[in-house]
Amino acid sequence: MSLIDLKGNSIGNLLPDKIDTLFIHCHLATMADSSLSIIENGALAVSGEKISWIGLEKDLPDNYRTRCRKIIDSHSRWILPGFVDCHTHLVFAGSRSHEFEMRLKGATYEEISKKGGGIFSTVKATRTASREDLLAIASKRVKTLISKGITTLEIKSGYGLDLKTELKMLDVIGELQKLFPVHIEPTFLGAHALPPEFKDNSDDYIDLITKTMLPKVKAQGIATAVDVFCEHIAFSLEQTKRVFEATKNLGLRIKLHAEQLSDSNGAALASEFNALSCDHLEYLSLSSAEKMARHKVTAVLLPGAFYYLKEKQRPPVQTFRDLKIPMAVSTDLNPGSSPVHSMCLILNMACTLFGLTCEEALLGATINGAKALGLEHVKGSLEPGKDADLVIWDIEAPSDLAYLSGQSPVDRVMIKGRIYEDNCQEHRG
Ligand code: NIG
Ligand code: FE
Repeated sequence: MSLIDLKGNSIGNLLPDKIDTLFIHCHLATMADSSLSIIENGALAVSGEKISWIGLEKDLPDNYRTRCRKIIDSHSRWILPGFVDCHTHLVFAGSRSHEFEMRLKGATYEEISKKGGGIFSTVKATRTASREDLLAIASKRVKTLISKGITTLEIKSGYGLDLKTELKMLDVIGELQKLFPVHIEPTFLGAHALPPEFKDNSDDYIDLITKTMLPKVKAQGIATAVDVFCEHIAFSLEQTKRVFEATKNLGLRIKLHAEQLSDSNGAALASEFNALSCDHLEYLSLSSAEKMARHKVTAVLLPGAFYYLKEKQRPPVQTFRDLKIPMAVSTDLNPGSSPVHSMCLILNMACTLFGLTCEEALLGATINGAKALGLEHVKGSLEPGKDADLVIWDIEAPSDLAYLSGQSPVDRVMIKGRIYEDNCQEHRG
């Protein structure tokens, strides 16, 4: 194993027992130490599922080339950690393109939701879809994301809103974990919207979540975190707190859709529960941001939803910088507010719409995305001992990933030490 200093020089190399793949003639943006941490003319060695050596190619120990099983000449391309997409709703049936058209004519997201459209229309389609159909559609989306450089993914339930369909969604997510090499974190989002059956008794639905759904989800081990949509069109602060209390008692981790359309003080509450992340945050107040900083909660920015819903209020990016709150960025892939399948497009939106620098956006899609999932010790940066999840990009500089749009300059994707092949055979075999 090797360690690298801040200038990218390798120090303290230890000889790994075996080297499976050696990348040479590459430039690296490692994302270590909360910066791009660039190593030009670098090399990277992979042993098993892990990165075992990284540094300047000229410092590569003599016998590495002869000892390794496979050398990949990167022809001066760039290698970055695989993207970590820390907020998606990619298991769903149906389409909401008609709502996109309604919004183009002036309807708002809230109006559509209040008339029984929005999340509810996806709930209807997801409830009636068979497990097999749901799996087939979601598999296509996962393939697309991997082909665009995503190697870690969070997927939420939340389009079932009844026990049977929520479990069906989580079961599909579990199946995706088996079918694809990409790392998937499953999140239970039973409190995404109030199902029509509970129209006039929303507290009873919270009872169903806390007393029946959550214990089942925990017992089956099918989710690692629990999320709530805390908003005037979804659940109140008090109801959110009840879900969090039950979640805490069960030992699951907490995330929150907070302050997307208005300030409900959700982020402050989530911080008191030591949430992993608060997501959206356009209407976050300074005092809530201070609480997030105190409790080391990651801010997940979702510029796709901001863009599609034509929002005007931006999340307080300068406050996040001032308070040193890590900013993650994510696709929020869902059929309503963000039907976006490209992290590069999200990088571009994060820069143009929210004012992030290219470096901040790239950190947001890698190491800070990993923080939002509690995975920063294994994912999100190129460092010895971490998982060998990386992408070779055919670009001139890392900022191209935010600057160019409409291209997909992925050359190769490696997940846990194996080059990803579209048919997944390598990973099954
Ligand atoms: O993150 N805000 C709530 N949930 C999703 C949207 C879900 C939907 O519209 O289907 C979001 O934007
Ligand atoms: Fe979301």
